[in-house]
Amino acid sequence: SNLQIAVVVGSLRRDSMNRKLANALQKLAPAGVTFKHLDIGALPLYNQDDDANQAPAVQQMKADIAASNGVMFVTPEYNRSVPGVLKNALDNCSRPYGQSAWSGKPAGILGVSPGAMGAALSQAHLRPILAYLDMPTLGQPEAFIQWKDGLIDANGEIGEASRKFLQGWMDKFISWVKTHQAG
Ligand code: FNR
Repeated sequence: SNLQIAVVVGSLRRDSMNRKLANALQKLAPAGVTFKHLDIGALPLYNQDDDANQAPAVQQMKADIAASNGVMFVTPEYNRSVPGVLKNALDNCSRPYGQSAWSGKPAGILGVSPGAMGAALSQAHLRPILAYLDMPTLGQPEAFIQWKDGLIDANGEIGEASRKFLQGWMDKFISWVKTHQAG
């Protein structure tokens, strides 16, 4: 079955470890699953005055979300919460009221940090936001990943030590997305 997954990386950094993780994870998905990265750096700062006239970048992102079967969030932790750029994307695409693009889209959350807690607090803050946005979100396995040499190998693949765990995550996520398709 063909599925399209929207990918939201919560970092704009050129060498983002979360983006590297997202790119490597995609290679663990079964055939027929495609991934589209949403460019959250292209969005304006959310302003409710713009609701009736959303910027083209917002409209494009909302269309990309609408066309997707699920959303994979891969985000760092900033000051024990979600980065503002990620919250800005969530807010922009949730409006105008009643026209949220996120509603009903199944989601998965991962994050990587140089710290031992593996972006856990960021993910813990993201969960109630996604719940409010009516996104059924995979509960297990949780993916609190600490960046270590070899997490991603020279070919951009998930390294040996984490391969089994992250393959398990992807398998669960794809079956979660499948079981939450409308109709
Ligand atoms: C961080 N970092 C960080 N790490 C963490 O584990 N918990 C935290 O609360 C924070 N807080 C924080 C705030 C700000 C403003 C910055 C810039 C960084 C470190 C962060 O995990 C590290 O910079 C990662 O490399 C960010 O992810 P990307 O950009 O590599 O994907």
